[in-house]
Amino acid sequence: MPDHLKNDLLLRALRLEPTERTPVWLMRQAGRYLPEYRALRQQIGSFTAMMRSPEVATELALQPLRRYDLDASIVFSDILCIPDAMGMGLYLEPNIGPMFERPITSARQLQDLRLPDTEKELHYVLEAVTRTTQALERKIPLIGFAGSPWTIFVYLLEWQPESGKDARIENAVTFARNHPEETLFALKLLTQAVTNLLLAQKHRGADALMLFDSWGGALGPDFDTFSLPFLTQICRRLRQDDTPTILFSRNTTQWLGPLAQCGCHCLGIDQTCTLAHARSQTQGSVALQGNLAPHWLDGPEASRTDLKEAVQSVLADYGSTGDRVGHIFNLGQGISPQAEPELVQLLIDEVRQGSTRKATSSSL
Ligand code: CP3
Repeated sequence: MPDHLKNDLLLRALRLEPTERTPVWLMRQAGRYLPEYRALRQQIGSFTAMMRSPEVATELALQPLRRYDLDASIVFSDILCIPDAMGMGLYLEPNIGPMFERPITSARQLQDLRLPDTEKELHYVLEAVTRTTQALERKIPLIGFAGSPWTIFVYLLEWQPESGKDARIENAVTFARNHPEETLFALKLLTQAVTNLLLAQKHRGADALMLFDSWGGALGPDFDTFSLPFLTQICRRLRQDDTPTILFSRNTTQWLGPLAQCGCHCLGIDQTCTLAHARSQTQGSVALQGNLAPHWLDGPEASRTDLKEAVQSVLADYGSTGDRVGHIFNLGQGISPQAEPELVQLLIDEVRQGSTRKATSSSL
């Protein structure tokens, strides 16, 4: 660590050291549920223009921190900056999702993919890390991130939006099974690109790193062919550098045992698995992050009482009195654009009170 952090709860939780309360941050904490995000998005014009401007990206990372007492900040970027830097032309189609101007249309084309020059073609990400680190003044840690090779791969392939979002993922799984050699070639290249980008973020000041394997679970039995080996390679390399790493692999509950052995310091848990089950599968070998279902925050039906109960149940599920080592409170997946900003405040208050109270009562 370069110099002392005022609030190092997240880093202590990642190292499985005791904390006076459970640290809390939210995946996609900078995003469309915030009116100030939507205002800046309208002013700048497009998501990709925001992402490519280090000044705007820094402002976006700071927006949630002006409202809420969060225990971590995350760099404002996207997992698809890597294929964009490979020359594929990323854009965001409203109501459809991320698209590429030049998607992969055949297995043969995968062999033409080239490694991006991180310092040059992803300079804007690194500059956003530098600026955000400076703006944070060592108050809270900054998380740098990247997508997993498999999750990035899913988006590279040509896709007809009319076929639906699920078809995008299913097509990628079928493609990988039909063209394993070319797919593995692309995944190896992406592994190199992801490792380079994560290490570069660390060198620019990121205190922790996170890997989003959001579509790992879609592979079913092929997870250990097309995702796990690459996650392992990346996490092991980051461990050599002594960087705390959070691995979020979604819908992969049955793989928790091997995932806990892959070299990461923490596993992000989605809402399809209880924290108690995740603890039993990982046996205290890694910290756990999660796993409130984001719908508890979604207006207009969301109820304050239900949200409080749901937060308490996540805390209780991790472990009761005095057993709070290694838990980072988060959602089970990214916050939705429908989330009510006031309920986010309630969530944070509830985690603070709920986890502090438990720690105090156990020490009496
Ligand atoms: O957590 C944060 O606040 C940091 C920023 C962040 C973004 N994307 C910004 C973003 C992070 C960590 C991501 C990760 C990401 N991006 C993932 C993995 C996590 C997950 O949610 O499963 C994936 C699969 C992507 C690809 C991607 N980019 C998707 C699916 C979308 C949403 C498309 C849509 O229409 O909803 C994006 C765009 C995106 N990335 C937005 C943000 C804030 C929304 C942009 C906007 O409409 O203004």
